[in-house]
Order: sequence, then structure tokens, then C-alpha cells
Amino acid sequence: MLAIENLEVVYQDVILVLRGVSLKIKKGEIVALLGSNGAGKTTVIRSITGLLDVQNGDITKGSISLDGEDITNLNPSKIVEKGIAQVLEGRRIFSELTVVENLRLGGHTNSNDIKDNIDKVLDLFPILKERSKGKAGYLSGGEQQMLAIGRALMSDPTYLLLDEPSLGLAPKLVDEVAELITEINSQGVTVLLVEQMQIWHLIFQTMDT
Ligand SMILES: Nc1ncnc2c1ncn2[C@@H]1O[C@H](COP(=O)(O)OP(=O)(O)OP(=O)(O)O)[C@@H](O)[C@H]1O
Ligand SMILES: [Mg+2]
Repeated sequence: MLAIENLEVVYQDVILVLRGVSLKIKKGEIVALLGSNGAGKTTVIRSITGLLDVQNGDITKGSISLDGEDITNLNPSKIVEKGIAQVLEGRRIFSELTVVENLRLGGHTNSNDIKDNIDKVLDLFPILKERSKGKAGYLSGGEQQMLAIGRALMSDPTYLLLDEPSLGLAPKLVDEVAELITEINSQGVTVLLVEQMQIWHLIFQTMDT
């Protein structure tokens, strides 16, 4: 279980952004954290993945634990080693690199065979398989989102954190990404996603059926 307890985060020593945030994500679950612009969703993800530092942010109270072990303020690469991967807001793929090269970058912390993992990810995303040798920058928005998710999966995570995966996608593509997330979850990956809207009822409908 990934647990956030009573988290308080301050940017630049003075800007209080989160106060008393607690959240539990049990293994196997898909948890959606909903909030409007500026509510602090990205800040929650940065707190877990150790990326507050580079933003001049600090955890001033509270803790984050993984299966009972305190992981508050661990550095980003340690967090990935512990099995937590994230997809950043706005995708951030390397547009000049090919699809496969982008995937390879996501696997650098993984001791398993990178090639096997690339094959596994490409099997999950047939469209990326077709475009595997093409420049990532030529992919459509939805395909780039899939590549960003695929890159995160290259580290074989137990937990996948997604920051607004629906951002900028047409409704049909949002449905596709939602289905994919359900598929990834059914393969044993626990998911935390943050979103502004409740479009993710799709996932929960799928889970009910
Ligand atoms: N590096 C930073 N320095 C100062 N303030 C910041 C920093 N990053 C975020 N903030 C502030 O913290 C608050 C929460 O930001 P955050 O990005 O976590 O919100 P969000 O819920 O992800 O918003 P959005 O839906 O727009 O992505 C906002 O008021 C934002 O201006
Ligand atoms: Mg955000």
C-alpha cells in the first residue's frame, strides 16, 4: 500500500499548497484524485516521486510510506527503484527521438532485459508498434500519451502515477486511454491518476462489468 498521511507542502518557503492531505492506495486499485486547476494535484504526485526539490518545494509535515516503509523525500531514482513510476503532466516525450528510443530511456533503471520490455510495451500498444522506428514528435496527441505511459511501464512499476492523462485528448481518445489504464491495472499495476474531471467514470464502469 502507498499511503500519504497528513501531507503539508510549501513552495519557496512561503507558499502553502497542501495541508492535511491523506490518501491510501492499496495494491491492485485504480484511485482517481480529482481537483480543479491549482488544487495541488501535481504537487501530490511530485511529493511521492521526489520531484518537489527541483521546484523549490518542501514537505513540511506528514509522511509518505510504501508497504509501511517511510519513503518521504527519497530521491527520484530511488523511488523508481522502489517500483513507483510516473507520467508527467503534458506528456514530455522526446520528440526528436524515435518511439523505441523513448521507451529505452524509460528502462534505464531496470535490470531486466530492455529488449524484452520494449516488446512487452509494444504488444500493449499496437499503434506504437507500427510507428516504432518513427520520430515520436510525429505521433498524434493520443499516441504520444500512450508513449509516455509506455515509457513509464519500462521500469516495471508496481505503482503507476498519471498526471492528467486525458489532457488535450478528444473524447474518443480519452476512452482509449481509459481502457488502456484498465488493461494495465488488470496486469497487476496499481494506478493513481489525477484529473480535473470525472470523465474517468469510464474506468469505473469498465471495472464494474
Ligand atoms: N514551483 C512552484 N513554485 C511556487 N508555486 C507553485 C509551484 N508549483 C505549483 N505552485 C502553486 O501550487 C498550487 C498547486 O499547483 P499544482 O500544479 O500542484 O496544481 P494542479 O492541481 O496540478 O493544477 P492543474 O490542474 O492546473 O495542473 C498552485 O497555486 C500553483 O501556482
Ligand atoms: Mg497539475
